[in-house]
Amino acid sequence: MASAPTKHSKLLKWVEEIKTLCQPDQIHWCDGSQAEYQILCEQMVKSGAFIRLNPTLRPNSFLARSHASDVARVEDRTYICAKTKDEAGPTNNWTDPEEIKARLTKSYQGCMKGRTLYVIPFSMGPLDSPISKIGIELTDSPYVVTNMEIMTKVGTAVLDKLGTDGEYIPCLHSIGAPLKPGQQDVPWPCEPDPANKYIVHFPETRTIWSYGSGYGGNALLGKKCLALRIASSIARKEGWMAEHMLILSLTSPAGKTYYIAAAFPSACGKTNLAMMQPALPGWTLRCIGDDIAWIRIGEDGRLYAMNPETGFFGVAPGTSTQSNPNALKSVAKNSIFTNVALTPDGDIWWEDMGVPPPAKMIDWEGREWTPDCGRKAAHPNARFTAPASQCPVIDPQWQNPAGVPISAILFGGRRPSTIPLVNEAFSWEHGVFMGSAAGSETTAAALGKAGVLRRDPFAMLPFCGYHMGDYLKHWLSMADRTKRDKLPKVYFVNWFRKSPEGKWLWPGYGENIRVLKWICERVEGTGKAVKTPIGNMPTPDAMDLSGMKLTPEDLKQLLAVDREGWKKEIENIGSYYDTLNPRMPDALRQELKGLQDRLNA
Ligand code: GTP
Ligand code: SPV
Ligand code: MN
Repeated sequence: MASAPTKHSKLLKWVEEIKTLCQPDQIHWCDGSQAEYQILCEQMVKSGAFIRLNPTLRPNSFLARSHASDVARVEDRTYICAKTKDEAGPTNNWTDPEEIKARLTKSYQGCMKGRTLYVIPFSMGPLDSPISKIGIELTDSPYVVTNMEIMTKVGTAVLDKLGTDGEYIPCLHSIGAPLKPGQQDVPWPCEPDPANKYIVHFPETRTIWSYGSGYGGNALLGKKCLALRIASSIARKEGWMAEHMLILSLTSPAGKTYYIAAAFPSACGKTNLAMMQPALPGWTLRCIGDDIAWIRIGEDGRLYAMNPETGFFGVAPGTSTQSNPNALKSVAKNSIFTNVALTPDGDIWWEDMGVPPPAKMIDWEGREWTPDCGRKAAHPNARFTAPASQCPVIDPQWQNPAGVPISAILFGGRRPSTIPLVNEAFSWEHGVFMGSAAGSETTAAALGKAGVLRRDPFAMLPFCGYHMGDYLKHWLSMADRTKRDKLPKVYFVNWFRKSPEGKWLWPGYGENIRVLKWICERVEGTGKAVKTPIGNMPTPDAMDLSGMKLTPEDLKQLLAVDREGWKKEIENIGSYYDTLNPRMPDALRQELKGLQDRLNA
């Protein structure tokens, strides 16, 4: 391989092996340059994979429409192939690693015929950070290359850092759609049969094999596969945490800055909170990350969070100038849109964008669309890929290799009933209990039925690379690794409470600042709270509700302890805990018992 820009013998050998197995027509080593990005985009415009958007309205931006079978993460095709099923635990799919390797090797055989094999050297986290991780993704999808170039640091500098023998995480990806000689390509090639898609992780050898899908977390392997599933398994061994969390900074009118991390399940509000425009004057919010946080104990004993990504892969529908103006500004240029609608003037549109749809459009499936046609114009899991640097409220510290010190951790989810607007943990253990008991209605971010309540501990159910019981233990163990007063305070929030008539009780979005303000005041020790059986909650006058239309009845419901609801909740959490036996930590059973006792007292 004379053209390879590296002398890393292990890497060269691996690329050669995959070339022999997958039989691509050619190999392209990605240098991560602007020129390379432009050439790939041009090629995709020619092949029909990309539609160039109107350069005046949306400079240097493109639309991709996926195959109808390939629109979200495929959780039932995602595997943690540890040596034993027990190591993967009951919440992960598992197959014997050797068995699945043999099966997938057959799928990979000749799977890149007629295509280019791209070698993507990427870094999760700043290159100068000792806690960053380097991955090499081999893929036959130029769509994946362009998205990875936005979402991670790609290029020759990564290979330079690797040198001749540096460590990297091998990430093999194929869309599983070889071309016969002369065969016309389609705009979104993939393996259409869901049963033939595989997203496989080998935690012991720190390897990722993905086959058949080109969409999001299935294919951009730096994100969920490396930075969450593989990283969580590494983090457990090394004493740190890889979490499905946003990171934000909040500066008070007094000029004090607080860093907050929050874990909400997929499509439950991380991107929105991470760059929210506060409805209260005087408060400044800045974004550090919107999906993943790597958290370590710093020299001062505090927890430091770092965003390993460089872009946003955000949910498009619902993003409007009202709900998330900073996301809309982030996608003003240099962005990739997947499965949104195309307007007649060559721009994009999606549901709840805050502007009326034009009389005629092309929907995400490429069909003519009119407002009365009865179909959604954008897929509910349509996404934008945008450089984080374009976010108008990106924090100056967002690429600080050391991360930022966290004052509060929030957990949340879509809970139309029972769970109050905000609730503070009594202790670290109680906080870990809250995270472990998190649940949410499912969303369109994963294939399957949406709107079904499921337990999603720490918003990590689909992303934990090992046994969930051990993961809970790992969270508990943070209290033994540092002084308790250095640990962040923990909260459970719920922006998604509904009235019996089904309307939102809480306006959400920029108004969520009112909850964040109370949390900052609690961190300072000034916020007023009342001790309830489920945790410390704001007194009715504790939150700043100035300038807000919220009826006293709605506020009462939002902050009520629904005893009947909680009894059902406790039962449900208890049965969930049973599924994690015998690795379910006793400390959390005791927390559950304590909650039950307080509610019955
Ligand atoms: P992933 O990228 O899948 O991990 O999702 P995310 O957690 O970043 O979710 P995101 O912020 O993109 O929100 C998804 C959906 O939740 C959007 O359709 C929003 O409109 C809606 N949403 C976000 N915040 C709020 C809120 O405060 N209130 C209400 N009612 N809806 C919200
Ligand atoms: C999620 O589903 O939590 C996402 C989108 O952030 S994906 O990258 O497709 O996993
Ligand atoms: Mn996510």
